[in-house]
Amino acid sequence: MSGVSPERIGQGILPEDFDPENFLRNYWQKKPLLIRAGSRPFVDPVEPDELAGFACEEFIESRLIINDPSSGKWTLRNGPFTERDFSELPDTHWSLLVQAMDQWHDGIRSMLSDFRFIPNWRIDDIMISFASDGGGVGPHFDYYDVFLIQGRGRKRWRLGGHVDSTSTLLPNTDLRLLQTFNTEEDWIVEPGDILYLPPNIAHHGVAIGDSITYSIGFRTPSVAEIIDDLGSELIQELAEEERYVDTSPQIPQRPGEIDPQISTQLVELLQKHLLDNDKLTRWFGRYMTSPKYAELVTPTEEALCSNQLRQHLCSGMLLIRNPASRFAFADNQTGAELYVDGTTIPCPPELTDLLPTLCDTHAADPDWQALLNADEESAILVTRLYNQGSLLLDDGSEE
Ligand code: SIN
Ligand code: CO
Repeated sequence: MSGVSPERIGQGILPEDFDPENFLRNYWQKKPLLIRAGSRPFVDPVEPDELAGFACEEFIESRLIINDPSSGKWTLRNGPFTERDFSELPDTHWSLLVQAMDQWHDGIRSMLSDFRFIPNWRIDDIMISFASDGGGVGPHFDYYDVFLIQGRGRKRWRLGGHVDSTSTLLPNTDLRLLQTFNTEEDWIVEPGDILYLPPNIAHHGVAIGDSITYSIGFRTPSVAEIIDDLGSELIQELAEEERYVDTSPQIPQRPGEIDPQISTQLVELLQKHLLDNDKLTRWFGRYMTSPKYAELVTPTEEALCSNQLRQHLCSGMLLIRNPASRFAFADNQTGAELYVDGTTIPCPPELTDLLPTLCDTHAADPDWQALLNADEESAILVTRLYNQGSLLLDDGSEE
């Protein structure tokens, strides 16, 4: 194995000989790869019953997809579900999907530590599916990269070719299922096997017996989303008097014509306002750290000062990262900045060295208490993160 330090091996989900450099060079965002399990047995961090329990919670996003094999009809139902819903399911051909399980379960979150070769701000969530025999979500494609980690049971994965928003979808279903599917690869995965798929690859997984799949999905904002969100942010700083100007006025030969020079002028205008690296990074940092579920990162009802926070810690409480929070940083030309849950926090030079540790959300939490007690600047930062809901007080007891 080249260039992999032991700390990058994480939980041991990836096989011992997995080479991240080779993967990034040859597969990431390019082509599918089936990574067969290594010698370490895969242990599911969650039981099917526990997963069903999570799907009954109001604040957790879950779906049931049922496929009638005789009619070929697909049904989608959105959670939360009840025990009764599960007891009424057919014996086969259904799949339960529970989103963002990394936010609710430490064991599931720790699976991410194997994937440190991708920046953590790219990761969206871990979705878990439990499928009964014959169950799956149907032939489809995603706009994002995904690692499909097989837990207990087996699944047959068929891959089609490259598809996109122009591909024909099945009518009369709320699921985005492909009408035609040409199988190019046909694989049966076993516990611990990992199937990597780049965006826009048709895929169709069908459970062979009861099966669990852990999908690590990534954030890939569309260009339309980037332009929309960046534009909305930038227009707030533009004064009314910033307007189109005639930079080289001339008597027009044909007064109805828009001269080609105009588009050059517009490009220059947009470049002046849009192409500022620090501004773009700041926007990107805020955008990519916006929580998946904003309602899980809420400011404290009453803001505390650093001393009040210290008192809580003295009474035995611990400060931990909110599992729904997202941290990233950038060392910009105008100074380092921390981006947390869609906010920008300019970082004093004394704290710059700390940023990698604060933002390594695959690693254990930094010692927030030590930081709170270190100096005034650090105390302000920790207190701000707590007050905005990005850090939580925890009594240390197990869930
Ligand atoms: C599954 O877990 O069966 C579906 C995941 C996916 O195809 O994205
Ligand atoms: Co998919």
